[in-house]
Amino acid sequence: MERTAIYPGSFDPVTNGHLDIIKRGLKLFDKIIVTILCNPSKTSFFTVEERIEMLKVSVKGFSKNVEVDSYGGLLVDYAAQRGAAAILRGMRAVSDFEFEFQMALMNRKLNREVQTVFLMTGLRWIFTSSSIIKEAVRFGGDISDMVPPIVNRKIKEKLNK
Ligand code: PNS
Repeated sequence: MERTAIYPGSFDPVTNGHLDIIKRGLKLFDKIIVTILCNPSKTSFFTVEERIEMLKVSVKGFSKNVEVDSYGGLLVDYAAQRGAAAILRGMRAVSDFEFEFQMALMNRKLNREVQTVFLMTGLRWIFTSSSIIKEAVRFGGDISDMVPPIVNRKIKEKLNK
């Protein structure tokens, strides 16, 4: 039986930390569907279409078992629709724990069939987040070794507009 995991997030934009989790996830699952969903507590910088494009280009060399998609509703409904056994989330520092714990338990309450699996991000990416990257670029910081090349380019293009 093919084991599919949904890797959900805002991916605004995708970072090398996200790519690290996808690579690790591929060792556990046959297929990973990277899905952009709405996080109501965040204001997005890139449109969903822009985020999809950056993700697609960034995972191109990975494996044909990585798919990129977006969904406008509940994560557990999407997971059920796609026949996924698990939701995959990356865990960085302790600060991630509370939000992740709350989300995993809410998702379990909404659908008991879908399990949440956490993977530790590689040490190199432990302090990398889409938010901190956007802030650094805004003030002229170099983030080229923290994001895929397409993101480095698009972020600068967007800020220069
Ligand atoms: O990258 P993020 O912003 O930490 O990802 C959070 C995300 C988008 C996965 C989460 O907000 C989400 O699942 N949104 C869809 C709505 C939903 O199902 N929420 C969880 C149950 S309340």
